[in-house]
Amino acid sequence: FRLVVLVSGSGTNLQALLDATASDAFGARVVAVGADRHGIEGLTRAERAGVPTFVEQVSDHADRDEWDENLAVRIAEHKPDLVVSAGFMKILGPRVLAAFPVVNTHPALLPAFPGAHAVRDALAYGVRLTGCTVHLVDTGVDTGPVIAQEAVAVREGDDEETLHERIKTVERRLLVEVVGRMARDGWTVTGRTVRIGRTGE
Ligand code: GRF
Repeated sequence: FRLVVLVSGSGTNLQALLDATASDAFGARVVAVGADRHGIEGLTRAERAGVPTFVEQVSDHADRDEWDENLAVRIAEHKPDLVVSAGFMKILGPRVLAAFPVVNTHPALLPAFPGAHAVRDALAYGVRLTGCTVHLVDTGVDTGPVIAQEAVAVREGDDEETLHERIKTVERRLLVEVVGRMARDGWTVTGRTVRIGRTGE
């Protein structure tokens, strides 16, 4: 089962997947890592693991449509069974989404706090409970069908960094667990319900 992982930053979720796929029992391997920018730690993590990488920058293309088209071609070269967006900070375009199933991890309990500043927004709102969501990506922003969620309590004195790190500790476990189950057992989507396992029987 072939995974292409998309990153934009430190890549600790990618690292969790790389560590998990080191054992055959996991049932999937990371065949490539794509990024929207050069010089990020996520790419270094892939290189250290001997995984091919590619970068498609929006600024290298005439417009987002052309970027979307090129990104779809680059991903297709690796024939993924599933694309995993793990801290990828661009909205994926219709061509990518039409070509591959995509799973995303988001550091909030969707539909609360969608978008690129979820942890900051949750803190600013003053919630006592936030968390993370693993979901299928649709054409909206963080609106696809939810696969798994886990709550994380906000603590006195939390700032964006301490809260986000606590959420990422949960994300790294939840994302690996969900991707592993999807790889080993398959999944079906009916409306907004994603069922993992027992596909087609
Ligand atoms: C994760 O919290 C992800 O949900 C958010 O950005 C963070 C990426 O962290 N979109 P990393 O690059 O995997 O360390």
